[in-house]
Amino acid sequence: MMNISICRALSLVGLIASFLISTAYAQNSDDDTASLYLAKACAGCHGVDGRSPVKPYYPKVAGQNEAYLYNQLRDLKNGSRSNSQSNIMKGIMTAVSDEEMRAIAAWLAKQ
Ligand code: HEC
Repeated sequence: MMNISICRALSLVGLIASFLISTAYAQNSDDDTASLYLAKACAGCHGVDGRSPVKPYYPKVAGQNEAYLYNQLRDLKNGSRSNSQSNIMKGIMTAVSDEEMRAIAAWLAKQ
């Protein structure tokens, strides 16, 4: 009997600890992505919050659908999205990896 309650207590402690760790991790990775967004100069055109572009014809990128954002970043990088404005992004995207695009798309969708 005693052993069972100790087991239960320990597994509860484990659950709480893993919850706290995953919450802290999510927090850190959001901060990391915010720094990445700044480091890759995205804020210079789209604004720190992704919704205050420096020119009226630059898009607001925050709060859009995550899959849509990822697809646009990928297509801008590989050139399949191509219009008179796309070259501006194409140059920037050469320095952004697929993994970084996924992280930034997920982060922007939550802003
Ligand atoms: C020099 C200015 C500039 C910088 C720096 C820049 N962008 Fe852009 N961005 C643009 C322009 C202009 C467009 C519109 C391109 C088009 O219409 O094809 C655009 C388009 C986008 C889009 C598509 C939006 C939509 O609604 O379809 C996303 C997402 C985006 N940028 C994210 C980023 C991210 C992330 C970074 C940093 C890695 C970044 N941008 C850096 C100017 C910039």
